[in-house]
Amino acid sequence: MTRSAAVDAIFPDEDKVPAAFRMEPLHQTEYLIDGALRHWDGPMAEVFSGMCVRTAAGVTQKRIGAYPMLTEHEALEALDAAVRAYDSGGGAWPTMPVAERIAHVEAFALRMVEKRHEVVSLIMWEIGKSHADATREFDRTVAYIRDTIDALKELDRAGSRFTIQEGIIGQIRRAPLGVVLCMGPYNYPLNETFTLLIPALIMGNTTVFKPPRLGALLYRPLLEAFRDAFPPGVVNTVYGRGSKVTPPLMASGKVDVLAFIGSSAAADALKKAHPKPHRLRSVLGLEAKNAAIVLPDADLDLTVRECVLGTLSFNGQRCTALKMLYVHRDIIDAFLDRFNQAIVALKIGMPWEEGVNLTPLPAKEEVQRHVDLVADAVAHGARVVNVGGGAVNETFFYPAVVYPVTAEMRLYHEEQFGPTIPVAAFDDIETPIRYIVESNYGQQASIFGSDPDIIGRLIDPLVNQVCRLNINSQCQRGPDTFPFTGRKDSAEGTLSVSDALRVFTIRTLVAAKANDLNKALITDIVRERKSNFLSTDFIF
Ligand code: G3H
Repeated sequence: MTRSAAVDAIFPDEDKVPAAFRMEPLHQTEYLIDGALRHWDGPMAEVFSGMCVRTAAGVTQKRIGAYPMLTEHEALEALDAAVRAYDSGGGAWPTMPVAERIAHVEAFALRMVEKRHEVVSLIMWEIGKSHADATREFDRTVAYIRDTIDALKELDRAGSRFTIQEGIIGQIRRAPLGVVLCMGPYNYPLNETFTLLIPALIMGNTTVFKPPRLGALLYRPLLEAFRDAFPPGVVNTVYGRGSKVTPPLMASGKVDVLAFIGSSAAADALKKAHPKPHRLRSVLGLEAKNAAIVLPDADLDLTVRECVLGTLSFNGQRCTALKMLYVHRDIIDAFLDRFNQAIVALKIGMPWEEGVNLTPLPAKEEVQRHVDLVADAVAHGARVVNVGGGAVNETFFYPAVVYPVTAEMRLYHEEQFGPTIPVAAFDDIETPIRYIVESNYGQQASIFGSDPDIIGRLIDPLVNQVCRLNINSQCQRGPDTFPFTGRKDSAEGTLSVSDALRVFTIRTLVAAKANDLNKALITDIVRERKSNFLSTDFIF
């Protein structure tokens, strides 16, 4: 089948969707507050998948369910439940021995695994992620929970000893911060939310979490597991329009940590709504505009392979995607030729199709955003240089390789977050370096080349502009044990399995002058296990 025929035929007849992936609409009326699933009979948000189907009425976005449009009132009830469970740090959850908190999280993970198929199917229908990638997202999340537990055991072992300095006995541990408001993005609706939620919880914070608008239904199968695995009020959910339900939470002044992955504009507005900004900790993953610099001696096969992965994995909807390709002018024609051929070889289809690479976008507005970005670049002198680039069929947008992209164009500055690929040629290495220096974003970059002298000289200035420099490799977050962060408008705080345990806590210690009274007192407290904090208990 030709590429354009494949675009035209991408949406199947409704009855041709494989039985294993057929979807009965999920009418969710439940939400979790204070350990109870409440029923909502108010207004609902209808969910239409970006995955269209052919019916007698024509091609339509399939309706896959609905979820509650809660109001400020229910959002504040969720927050108050979290505040009560934290109880100014004296609640059962924040004072619980670490081993017991781990047991609750393990119980949750076991229940979560039982819901693998349902959650993976919902990821596919809600955001159009391929079955392979949606399964990877689920499994990566379960592995993240296990790794977090191991990292916490390690941290706790290190904190279970006393130090004596200058005649003062001290025991130093990490203590929770309070109530955490967690919000993840649509492109990793499960994984990125959990990389915030799980470390926040396991360290003793209580939480309110709001699933992303695209990617809300997939939490329905997990609500009972949250309810049963955690004490009341430790996990609370809020559904509804973010702009309505989250500002009142921040304005209450009762949120201690904002854990958010999304746009910097939304993060700024939420932070500003807090009446005492100095009390608020923020853990943020924001926009990025990661550039690839392709040097004249780059291995073109490898470079094209990595650039295709970097620009088009999950249709380019990754914060870590390569979002600007700077290619040396000596090889620009050869690069574009091979890159475009590699795109032609990508399989177009629905998320459940074997080996599919390019799938529909989750909403028509996303397609329109890409149409507008390409039109703006073309109006300013660029061309779409791949065959069929930018072709649209309902919610499907075929990747558009746009060249040459210049500073007048939106694509040069804006995070496109999807299958539009800006390319520019350079003569002097200073040009792409200036691009990175002048960018508002500072997450990652990639350099492709083979001369150790040149690459060595580029590393030192660039590592002070971005937080991960990838050599002959696409940008990416993983492995999840590596630090994931950014400079400028790209992030606040660092996330990795072990760093996340740190950002949701504060170092806290118990200290006493080493006199006989205090030695006897501490010995008694520890020996008789009178405190969970002041303790030498060891978790294996
Ligand atoms: O959307 C941003 C994700 O953190 C990227 O993760 O590089 O593993 O796709 P990834």
